[in-house]
Amino acid sequence: MAEELTPETPDEAEEPIKQRKNGLYQGVSDELAENMKSGWADTELTGLAPIAQAAETAARRAALSARFPGERLVVPAGNLKTRSNDTEYSFRASTEYAYLTGDQTHDGVLVLEPTKTGHEATIYLLPRSDRENGEFWLDGMGELWVGRRHSLTEAEQLLGIPAKDVRELAAALGEATGPVRAVRGHDAGIETALTDKVTAERDEELRVYLSEARLIKDSFEIAELEKACASTARGFEDVVKVLDKAEATSERYIEGTFFLRARVEGNDVGYGSICAAGPHACTLHWVRNDGAVRSGDLLLLDAGVETTELYTADVTRTLPINGRYTEIQRKIYDAVYEAQEAGIAAVKPGAAYRDFHDAAQRVLAEKLVEWGLVEGPAERVLELGLQRRWTLHGTGHMLGMDVHDCAAARTEAYVDTTLEPGMCLTVEPGLYFQADDLTVPEEYRGIGVRIEDDILVTEDGNRNLSDQLPRRSDEVEAWMAALKG
Ligand code: GLY
Ligand code: MN
Ligand code: MN
Repeated sequence: MAEELTPETPDEAEEPIKQRKNGLYQGVSDELAENMKSGWADTELTGLAPIAQAAETAARRAALSARFPGERLVVPAGNLKTRSNDTEYSFRASTEYAYLTGDQTHDGVLVLEPTKTGHEATIYLLPRSDRENGEFWLDGMGELWVGRRHSLTEAEQLLGIPAKDVRELAAALGEATGPVRAVRGHDAGIETALTDKVTAERDEELRVYLSEARLIKDSFEIAELEKACASTARGFEDVVKVLDKAEATSERYIEGTFFLRARVEGNDVGYGSICAAGPHACTLHWVRNDGAVRSGDLLLLDAGVETTELYTADVTRTLPINGRYTEIQRKIYDAVYEAQEAGIAAVKPGAAYRDFHDAAQRVLAEKLVEWGLVEGPAERVLELGLQRRWTLHGTGHMLGMDVHDCAAARTEAYVDTTLEPGMCLTVEPGLYFQADDLTVPEEYRGIGVRIEDDILVTEDGNRNLSDQLPRRSDEVEAWMAALKG
């Protein structure tokens, strides 16, 4: 920040305002305090239409209610986190809270109170700032500093959930009786208020339920994932158009270019973009992105736009920086492409979740044997897992609001289950030959290739949501040539 912004007083030179008391800065004259209370228009909004996913969030709350009858359920959005001194990281609401409410404001808490017939939901939020006590302009969280919030009445109309002041919640929870479960890890204040009322085991059951509930996407979620993939494809095109600028600077130019698309069309990137040029492609989570971008090398770009409603794509393309794969790059790329094709073909309702991984790994093992890098047959390689020296990671994962979605789901509900329509997963085989791998010929070293797409299971097979981007090596080259003009 160029200049420190703190609330001003008329006599700041003599009496700097640095100290807060009861949330308010001291040292304001009575006259100014009185003056600031009035003269403001009533900006209350009326007749607001419900948010687009109001019906879906209500259905999700109803399913949650049916799973935990008679229990009070507490789901916080989370709080701001300090980055340094008085600046905060940009806020991203907890997935569980956003999934159940459609709201994304910090400090919000959804509470489901048990009733005779089910649950009554209440959303606890920070209300509009008080003008009478000066909070709106004197407190650092006042609306004059951080922007207008919805009033509780406005929030009720938008979200379809009765709203109350979150500052009353800790006391209300303290007095509550009966069984309680809470989603942990987002709001320390709420957890403190509930210390004597919850157990780790019971809270874990709630977390697992909320993870498994997201395994099958509803129509709103599928539309969001489609948007995420479409924006991501545009972000990849943006990157191809500026590869010369990246060559003149670094991988950061690629990161920044994709981020611009993510911020303009969505909320953010769904995870740190992996902008890995040359041998950095062999570092699976290369997010430092501070390396050189060189003609003749490959660029492995693994990036996803997160939509404004917090659904993310997760897409990888491995591109020749100068527009043409070399012979060895193409050989490795085409093998990964073949493995991905086999993996995608195995995604269909009724298939075992593990099938697409097995199908892709088989192709890669066969290639490694064919190239003489490992002793065959492929069955032996697969049985001993020897291909993993170069394939490194699993072939995919569920995708949704979290890039590695549904991560708390039980094994029997996820990796040991069969695929059903509405599941969305990535298929992302790769081959990585580390620069210092002495077991492969020199020409392989430093080459890493991954191809990753986002695949929706449909009634009769699957749909590739990220198919706006070419995958076959010759099509990638033609696409790059067209974009570079
Ligand atoms: N971007 C992380 C992953 O592909 O799983
Ligand atoms: Mn990825
Ligand atoms: Mn992935």
